[in-house]
Amino acid sequence: MTKKLLFILMLGASLVSCSKKQDATESKIDELISKMTLTEKIGQMNQLTGEGASANMKDQIRAGVVGSILNEVDANTINELQRVAVEESRLGIPLIFARDVIHGFKTIFPIPLGQAATWNPELAEQGARIAAQEASSVGIRWTFAPMVDVSRDPRWGRIAESCGEDPYLTSVMGVAMVKGFQGDNLADSNSIAACAKHFAGYGASESGKDYNTTWIPETQLRDVYLPSFHAVADAGVATFMCSFNDINGIPSSGNKHLNKDILRNEWKWDGVLVSDWGSIDQMISHGVCANSEDAAIMAVDAGVDADMMGFVYIKNLEKLVKEGKVDEKLIDNAVRNILRLKFRLGLFENPYVKDTSKVAFYASGSLNAARQAAEESAVLLKNNNVLPISTKTVKSIAVVGPMSDAPADQLGTWVFDAEPSHSVTPLQAIRQDYGSKFNILAEKGLLYSRDTNSKGIARAVQVAEKADIVLFFAGEEAILSGEAHCRADISLPGAQTEMLRELKKTGKPVVTVLMTGRPNTISEEVEKSDAFIYAFQGGTMAGPALADLLFGNAVPSGKLPVTIPRMVGQVPVYYAHKMTGRPASNIVMINDIPVGAFQTSLGNTSYHLDAGDSPLFPFGYGLSYTTFSYSPVHLSATSMDQNGKIMAECKVTNTGKYDAREVIQLYIRDKVATLAQPVRELKGFKKIMLKAGESQTISFEINACELGFWHQDNTYSVEPGEFQVWISKDSQSGEPVSFYLK
Ligand code: NOJ
Repeated sequence: MTKKLLFILMLGASLVSCSKKQDATESKIDELISKMTLTEKIGQMNQLTGEGASANMKDQIRAGVVGSILNEVDANTINELQRVAVEESRLGIPLIFARDVIHGFKTIFPIPLGQAATWNPELAEQGARIAAQEASSVGIRWTFAPMVDVSRDPRWGRIAESCGEDPYLTSVMGVAMVKGFQGDNLADSNSIAACAKHFAGYGASESGKDYNTTWIPETQLRDVYLPSFHAVADAGVATFMCSFNDINGIPSSGNKHLNKDILRNEWKWDGVLVSDWGSIDQMISHGVCANSEDAAIMAVDAGVDADMMGFVYIKNLEKLVKEGKVDEKLIDNAVRNILRLKFRLGLFENPYVKDTSKVAFYASGSLNAARQAAEESAVLLKNNNVLPISTKTVKSIAVVGPMSDAPADQLGTWVFDAEPSHSVTPLQAIRQDYGSKFNILAEKGLLYSRDTNSKGIARAVQVAEKADIVLFFAGEEAILSGEAHCRADISLPGAQTEMLRELKKTGKPVVTVLMTGRPNTISEEVEKSDAFIYAFQGGTMAGPALADLLFGNAVPSGKLPVTIPRMVGQVPVYYAHKMTGRPASNIVMINDIPVGAFQTSLGNTSYHLDAGDSPLFPFGYGLSYTTFSYSPVHLSATSMDQNGKIMAECKVTNTGKYDAREVIQLYIRDKVATLAQPVRELKGFKKIMLKAGESQTISFEINACELGFWHQDNTYSVEPGEFQVWISKDSQSGEPVSFYLK
């Protein structure tokens, strides 16, 4: 028997056994549903927040009116509540315990936006795996992550939790995180169900204000906001969460088109769709439901399986079924999805945390992985030959700025369970790892990012004057991004810019390291700094990672997952914009217009008088201590048919002195189409390690079927014509070559 035949037979056998297992689970679910009262069914759809092992909570569990609990993190309490569910409720259906484990449980990785800046999906997967291991050790089996909302508005606080502006990068990182959380088998006790959130379009909130309205044409929804959700659905994400916003007037928690037509019918997804916190009830406030009964009808009809802390289902559904206003089949469907998840998690067989004393928090392997992620998430934006710091030219170093020693703030948003005492700050790491070689002088100056204390600045300046180089750790406190923490002004808070100006006046080289939760407007700060690292909030091990980069024990390899604007008025500004009928050219800035100039529209193009047309730094940008050269792109053919593929190749050479990683990016443009298409779209990337002087030829497979877009008649198709291809170091560089699709 050939190896191939054996493989096919084995694959066939495993598919048969897999579908038998699935059938067996579906029969168990049906059997259980047939025994459930209507109250018990609706109880499964009710998700409550934890209140410890209170008598009230136990009574509700015993009565079978709670299906899952969020925010309970004590293993003994979890076991006790689970015992009541399994042993004292009529049918013994186990509970699921959920928590927002967003970028770590105890060991905190960089904020998701920072993880996206690594362009390293393996690291993101590893981060999620570690989070799952730590969280599951106390009994958490469901996390509300990853957030795969494409985010193009830096004012929106939740951009911190996103993978940035690009659908492809978000999809790749989202899938990696799902794999990490869920592991090889959801039933393993250290796997946790992931949740794709927030379905959908949440990142498009008007003016970057959280919970706000979105207006998204169907073609844009499908081309930009849905691909990341589709990708994680295909990768087997166990749950989805509705977003708070309305899209074109319909809140997601009542949006049949999204939740049924697309998620269930088109994508054939069979997991649990949970509302966001109170989002079913909030349909009253949106003004699409008159009261809580209306909201229950609208949400259940739209296929929302579980009501997170809204009490809308538990209060109304039973009555509505009895009155014939809600079909019990809708309830059965929701319960079927919820029970399926409980079976998939193995909770019927293993409902308890086996050994509540056995937790593996902050293991050294986990800390090393977090350090690697923090290192790869830092993006070098400028370097006038001051980095890496060398003992040859530098003897004493001033470590200043509000983020230099801010153990809680470097963890970023959505950190409920980690202890800041485990954070290693830049100051601690620099003292510990480099203190024997350099004289380290420290003075925060400003105590926190919003601080405006000029005396503090003066103290930092005095310290700077005594040093050979100044390391200025600036940024945002963790509380300035994340849910509901949006800003209309995205410049550095407090007197940080003023502090930089004063530091610069000392004449010492200044390196700015920005530990932040969003793209900030930093034109002046970059200009005044001799080197600039955009670090995001890097988590538990941010300090050692940044120290290694500053002193050359590591080489920067992060690339921006999001555009950095020059000024907030440019927002939304993103690389995959449309060309327009008058693409920017002949830019005349505001002060170059002659006084009294006559108005004419002749020759005018699309740009701002005060910002021009370019961002400060484009998507995909990031420098290294070495340099890379890219050969012209070579295509395996200059044309292909609708089912074809073409290979695109490029030789990348490390032309500098450091061994380093580089992210090689593939962009494509559909030059002429029936709907105007973006000027470039990311279609692939590879992160490789190249020794100094080494070259590698990188190839990408371009499949015709991936080059389509959504049309106004709601179909996806690829149109014939010219396509341009770039293989480049960021979204603005490189020379394109073309092929034709027949
Ligand atoms: C509201 C947030 O929007 C969501 O992301 C989170 O998972 C839930 N609350 C639960 O805390």
